[in-house]
Amino acid sequence: MSLIKRPKGTYDIIGEDVPFWHHFENKAKESARVFGFEEIRTPILERTELFKRSVGDETDIVQKEMYTFDDKGKRSMTMRPEGTASVIRAFLENNLMSLGLPQKVFYMGPMFRYEKPQTGRYRQFHQFGVEIIGSASSKADTEIIWQAKYLIESLHLHNYNFQLNHLGCSSDRKKYKDALKEYYQEHYDSLCEDCKVRYENNILRLLDCKKPQDEELKEKAPKMTDFLCDHCSSEYQEIKRELKQLSIEFEENPFLVRGLDYYTGMVFEVKYPYADTVLDILGGGRYDHVISELGGKDIPAVGYACGIERILAIMKEEEVEIKVKPLSEIFVLGMCEEAEAFVMKIVRFLRRKGISVEHDLMGRGLKSQMKYASKIGAKFTIIIGNEEINNGIYVVKDMETGNQTSVESSWIENYIMDKLEE
Ligand code: HAM
Repeated sequence: MSLIKRPKGTYDIIGEDVPFWHHFENKAKESARVFGFEEIRTPILERTELFKRSVGDETDIVQKEMYTFDDKGKRSMTMRPEGTASVIRAFLENNLMSLGLPQKVFYMGPMFRYEKPQTGRYRQFHQFGVEIIGSASSKADTEIIWQAKYLIESLHLHNYNFQLNHLGCSSDRKKYKDALKEYYQEHYDSLCEDCKVRYENNILRLLDCKKPQDEELKEKAPKMTDFLCDHCSSEYQEIKRELKQLSIEFEENPFLVRGLDYYTGMVFEVKYPYADTVLDILGGGRYDHVISELGGKDIPAVGYACGIERILAIMKEEEVEIKVKPLSEIFVLGMCEEAEAFVMKIVRFLRRKGISVEHDLMGRGLKSQMKYASKIGAKFTIIIGNEEINNGIYVVKDMETGNQTSVESSWIENYIMDKLEE
């Protein structure tokens, strides 16, 4: 029978990758704690309508990338392509507003997008994200970027580049879109086929095209920042001033538009060179109308999400060292059948003390048990044979130095505990 393979664009997290995931998860949770964000966990499945109304009907995500199906009750369901919409749905459904504002939450988990798999791009990928709901202040924008920077630094990454833009209010964006239409109309024939569609449906997305001819056209295109009203312009200035005050470096990118339609003010992304490309490891911004679009009051919000796979790939490439604890600290080796009861006694005692201990489950001989003990990275192996039982003395082998010490059986637990604490 042929083996069943995992779906394209997915992968298994196994072996040496697992400590990297744990490391990231711990750092991410820690960074959230330091900034006062509380965890929220939402379902992976949501009503399709949720993403249509928030992420935007015209976006690539909604148009082409969602895993959508009818469930047995004929309801259209979607496996979440991102976390923000679900967070806002949960905020409204659970009346989190009644707990007071701002609500500051973080989330971590799998997202699904039917994209063409390539470097750093998967169909099931994982995000860590934070959202501040309820503050219209530039301080909330700064707080989000500050938190992102804190996380990246705590992971010991260095070559990152924060890019910042402001998408203005809806009347600013309308004026900007009109200007873009006018500009690109003259160059319509030289646009790539995708951009011709974007020209009609979602002109801002033209600025995201990576095709060389479109990149070249973009250079002379009108800039969003030239269309900001006084209010938006001074808000943008304030965010930049606060970031400078915090020594958070950034680059202004007046063409940064993001791939989701809900953004309304400041937007930002973090780029990172990786292999022969540059990866977006993180992106976010202000989305002040999503809550009202989803049936709530007019409540502002701002947040970001990062791609965990991309960050881990970069950490590996940069050889960031992480502490890897061996799975088991102790291996208890029985040399004969009579030793079995003694093996179990010690294993049980040490496990009750919370020490990770393994023993043979395969019926192996002395040599192979010793090999296994070193394979799992045990720090010590306790050896028990006939002689040891008769003399009431066990042998403890330090797996790093190879030194062996004889320890009285009644003292073995204390000896091991002391050794592990050293
Ligand atoms: P996004 O830019 O679509 O924003 O995704 C955020 C991050 O997720 C990206 O910067 C990237 O690192 C990672 N990512 C996206 N697609 C993939 C993929 N196919 N494979 C691997 N990684 C991927 C959002 O999702 C917004 N919800 C962010 C946000 C939160 N805005 C406000 N609050």
